[in-house]
Amino acid sequence: MNFRKATFRDVEAMQKLINDYAEQGFMLARSRNTLYESLRDFIIAEEAGKLVGLAALHLVWDELGEIRALAVAPSMTQKGVGRKIVDMLTEEARTLGVKTLFALTYNPGFFAKLGFLEVTKESVPQKMWKECINCPKFPNCDEVAMVKELF
Ligand SMILES: CC(C)(COP(=O)(O)OP(=O)(O)OC[C@H]1O[C@@H](n2cnc3c(N)ncnc32)[C@H](O)[C@@H]1OP(=O)(O)O)[C@@H](O)C(=O)NCCC(=O)NCCS
Repeated sequence: MNFRKATFRDVEAMQKLINDYAEQGFMLARSRNTLYESLRDFIIAEEAGKLVGLAALHLVWDELGEIRALAVAPSMTQKGVGRKIVDMLTEEARTLGVKTLFALTYNPGFFAKLGFLEVTKESVPQKMWKECINCPKFPNCDEVAMVKELF
């Protein structure tokens, strides 16, 4: 298994993995445009040259970062791929000076395993929600906010 930063060559497979899950309602779909513009945020996992996992670190505000677009191919789940990618992004966040790392997720159990704590939507910085206005589900959000403080 190889873990590395994404490149333009990965975008087609990235979009397919994300949008296959999006069709099942597990995550939000992403356009090509969004993936190109945020390509530097992504770490991908590949096995035998095939993309099997990905996630992004998005910088939101001063010392505030978000893990987003996390997906592991159905045939490769429960093998530590998601954990490794989030761990790598967490290290990157730490290096950049992120103090609060969060995720908005339908999968709080996974993030809890990685040391994130569930918080109420009212208790989190408003900046966490600043891009939600572009979400098709806004304002009826059914995701859970999970936060990890980095020291
Ligand atoms: C959620 C997802 C990314 C997990 O990836 P993964 O590679 O299977 O996770 P890992 O194998 O690294 O699991 C790490 C730990 O979390 C646990 N875990 C994994 N998925 C879990 C879940 N849905 N609920 C609770 N715990 C979970 C694992 O058992 C493991 O625990 P352990 O360390 O005690 O063994 C993957 O199942 C997925 O892509 N799901 C569909 C898309 C999705 O829901 N994305 C999240 C949107 S924010």
